[in-house]
Amino acid sequence: MNFKRHLFLVFTIVVLIICLKNQNAETNKNHSSSSEFEMLNWSSSDEQSLSASLFSFTGNNVEAPKHSESLRYDYYDETCPQAEHIVQSVVRRLYMTRPRIAPQLLRLVFHDCFVQGCDASVLLDPADGIESEKAAIPNLFLKGDDVIDIIKSELEAACPQVVSCADIVVLAARESVILVGGPFYPLTTGRRDSNEPHFQFTNELPAPTDDLPKILEKFSSKGFKEWEIVSLLGSHSTGVIHCNFFSDRLGRTNEPDPSIDTEFLNLLRSKCNVSEASSALPASGSAPVPSNEQPTIEMDYKGPGNGFGTIYYQSLLQSKGILFSDQQMIAAEETAAWVQAYALDVNLFRLKFCRSMMKLSNLGVLTASKGRVRLNCRKVH
Ligand code: HEM
Repeated sequence: MNFKRHLFLVFTIVVLIICLKNQNAETNKNHSSSSEFEMLNWSSSDEQSLSASLFSFTGNNVEAPKHSESLRYDYYDETCPQAEHIVQSVVRRLYMTRPRIAPQLLRLVFHDCFVQGCDASVLLDPADGIESEKAAIPNLFLKGDDVIDIIKSELEAACPQVVSCADIVVLAARESVILVGGPFYPLTTGRRDSNEPHFQFTNELPAPTDDLPKILEKFSSKGFKEWEIVSLLGSHSTGVIHCNFFSDRLGRTNEPDPSIDTEFLNLLRSKCNVSEASSALPASGSAPVPSNEQPTIEMDYKGPGNGFGTIYYQSLLQSKGILFSDQQMIAAEETAAWVQAYALDVNLFRLKFCRSMMKLSNLGVLTASKGRVRLNCRKVH
């Protein structure tokens, strides 16, 4: 391994550790007792061995995390050394005038990776009679593809036909996490793009009306454990939710969802212009069909700047989750214990979030001849 590569890895690990250590600003210092840690199989040695768990050094080799054997940390070193810098600078530049792109890109990586892997299939436009994933109901409000286009065109200008759209999606999401106050996590690269969209698999995405067993089933089919699911949902600390997605909880035509705190129910009703007798929203129980006319509520509804992760878990414990699926995280001990742990210890959350995002970003990747590098992220050819 050359000196440059060593230097990069050491630098990345140091940044990661500093990042995780320095996030105490909004931490509740009276965090978990040791018994809670034991219950969750977590110990301080876990944090000390963070770098070892993220990177495994074997002599001169650097082993990528499981599930990504063919991806590498220095994949573009020879062919496009400035690749990650270009992604970072474009996301940061656009964020200055369009801060909404950060949560949009974070959601985009989930919707790409969860459906047949991180292969940028979600970006494809319909072509040759083949339906695009964008047309599927879970993706109707999905945004950020225009940002990927801008990044791609800058990368094509710098190093033509080298950097895949799939790598851009995961790298742009990581940059977005940092911009909204979340942690840095290392990512390997070398993903290839799909040759087709996977419209027929989009129903594998969890729905906001799913209950806990359904959510666990969907995530465990992709290999995620409870602690990973709960930590990934911490992404709902940022961005907006259209009222359609939780209107059936507000008690318009029937009783409101009993799992919502009463004061919070009234807040949601007023934000969504819903009175008990209102008929402005679709019938209760019907699948939420997005509409651009629908009002939105900020996920971080107490106002921006409250900290990535912190408010979200505390809100769930106070029965103030916006989506039914979010609030379901405290419906059973197996996930509720993690909600409690993350609510009490933001550093624990950030560590678990890093690991879970790395796993999500490596899900079902295509490498080498199994995929291609698209010239235009919206088109196969
Ligand atoms: C049970 C699992 C999940 C469900 C049911 C779910 C559902 C939703 C829904 C309905 C919205 C609102 C979309 C809108 O109104 O425009 C949303 C937004 C969002 N979701 Fe999720 N989600 C889940 C998991 C995740 C995960 C794992 C991530 C990231 C790793 C994520 C990231 C986001 C982000 C950042 C937003 C805000 C988007 C924006 O502001 O444009 N979600 N999600």
